[in-house]
Amino acid sequence: MIIRHATTNDLNLLHRVERECFAKDAYTLKQIAFLLEDPNSLSLVALVNEKVVGFIIGQIHDSSGMRIGHVCTLDVVTKYRRKGIGCQLLTKLERLFKEENVKDCFLEVDVENVGALSLYRKHEYTELARLKNYYSKGVDGVRLKKRLAT
Ligand SMILES: CC(C)(COP(=O)(O)OP(=O)(O)OC[C@H]1O[C@@H](n2cnc3c(N)ncnc32)[C@H](O)[C@@H]1OP(=O)(O)O)[C@@H](O)C(=O)NCCC(=O)NCCS
Repeated sequence: MIIRHATTNDLNLLHRVERECFAKDAYTLKQIAFLLEDPNSLSLVALVNEKVVGFIIGQIHDSSGMRIGHVCTLDVVTKYRRKGIGCQLLTKLERLFKEENVKDCFLEVDVENVGALSLYRKHEYTELARLKNYYSKGVDGVRLKKRLAT
């Protein structure tokens, strides 16, 4: 498995993977295009035999003089799950965040997304807040945080 930076050439494939991963609330093609082009974004793609099997997109923002990381999406195609690809994408993104002086990393996830919550807990993310109706009416989210700076 190879991880490399994503480019706009990957757009259609990333959108396909995003739609496979999120039956509801998937990022649109336009939103992914925006994220790939945004200078505040860091986007990584995982390839097996030159085939896209997953990706992660994060963003860096300044908040009160601190650099804050945000994981926008993490996707691994069904066939390649539970092989450590999600973990490796997240670890690499966190490393890039650290190189950019990011102190804290945040993300939101559906409270019922057991697999993702389990992965993030394994990566030492802790719950910061419950987000009522975050995704849609009756679908709550949870905001997680990890301290990256030592
Ligand atoms: C969540 C997701 C990215 C995980 O990717 P993955 O490559 O399968 O994750 P990994 O193989 O690196 O898993 C690492 C650990 O996370 C936990 N984990 C991952 N998926 C899990 C699941 N379905 N159930 C329980 N634990 C899970 C396990 O502890 C796992 O370690 P193990 O396999 O040794 O037990 C993938 O399932 C996915 O794309 N889901 C749909 C999109 C999504 O929900 N994205 C995250 C929200 S932003």
